[in-house]
Amino acid sequence: MRVAVVGAGLMGHGIALVWAMGGHTVRITDTHAPTLERAPALMAKALATLAAHGENKGMDPAALAQRVTAHPGLAECVEGAELVIEAIIEQPDAKRALYAELLSCMPEGATLASNTSYLDVFPLMPAALLPRAMIAHWYTPPYLVDLVDLVPSPELEAGRLEAVRDALAAMEQKPVVMKRFIPGYIANRIQATVQNEVQWLIDNGYADARTVDEAVVHGIALRMPIVGVMAKADFTGLPLLQHTFRNRMYSPPEPFDASPSMDALIAAGATGVMSGRGYYEWGGEPAALIEERDRRLIALKKALREIGTMAGNAL
Ligand SMILES: NC(=O)c1ccc[n+]([C@@H]2O[C@H](COP(=O)([O-])OP(=O)(O)OC[C@H]3O[C@@H](n4cnc5c(N)ncnc54)[C@H](O)[C@@H]3O)[C@@H](O)[C@H]2O)c1
Repeated sequence: MRVAVVGAGLMGHGIALVWAMGGHTVRITDTHAPTLERAPALMAKALATLAAHGENKGMDPAALAQRVTAHPGLAECVEGAELVIEAIIEQPDAKRALYAELLSCMPEGATLASNTSYLDVFPLMPAALLPRAMIAHWYTPPYLVDLVDLVPSPELEAGRLEAVRDALAAMEQKPVVMKRFIPGYIANRIQATVQNEVQWLIDNGYADARTVDEAVVHGIALRMPIVGVMAKADFTGLPLLQHTFRNRMYSPPEPFDASPSMDALIAAGATGVMSGRGYYEWGGEPAALIEERDRRLIALKKALREIGTMAGNAL
């Protein structure tokens, strides 16, 4: 498939790399020249990390340079494309202006897929684009996190979403199809709910950050890859969950606007891994910490491939 990626930032260059590793030819563009110039080196660095763990799908740096080309102009980037991926900044006005431009330069047959996180992009598009528009939402870094949320525009022509889904699946990504758009899709909404709960437990003195993470990793996370949430419900037995709902044994915390513990850390300059300190004392170089996280992620992915999952498969 000939793919065009518009926006070469954090997500754009990673998405381009995945399509290239999948054997596709990719053109990439960005209105910010330094970002576009930086993209090939970032892709090469990510490819080297993957290659060090045997996860580069047989692609070497020469093949990467051949398959992904950078183009300063939008029209040149989308010329001949079958799939145009929009990965520009999350600003409605910028997206609206780009979609109007794309209508005039995108090939007739091409599908447009937006990587938006929280915006309902369909009302921002010219009506004539809607029959060929969808959302394909990736996670960071796209070459390590397999999930891609797919959402059709309300007027999407039959066959387009399925073609993107099949191409993603062939690259060993995990496309999931939602019936309609909701900000945050599934995974980020669940993540937000978990973050709210955890922040509440910490701020109300029930546990510290380390204890929360131990409970998450050794309790919830250990089971989740195998049984997800709904397959776990079946294993638990639905009547137990029915009682939990009926008896209101558990009620989630009231919504809150700010977390005092987080506000205090940020005010002290402890903003997370990049500053060496957040809820944890990290110390070391951010690049080394990120590499170590990625090494473990790759090892876990390999193990999961071998183990398989009972979530989804049984349906
Ligand atoms: N960062 C994440 O974790 C993440 C995850 C999933 C989805 N997303 C979504 O992906 C999109 C991009 O996010 P990002 O994190 O890569 O942002 P980013 O700021 O790293 O990159 C966006 C790029 O778009 C470029 N740009 C702006 N207007 C443009 C135009 N008209 N044409 C071409 N390029 C243009 C900017 O110069 C910038 O380099 C957003 O919609 C975001 O919500 C982000």
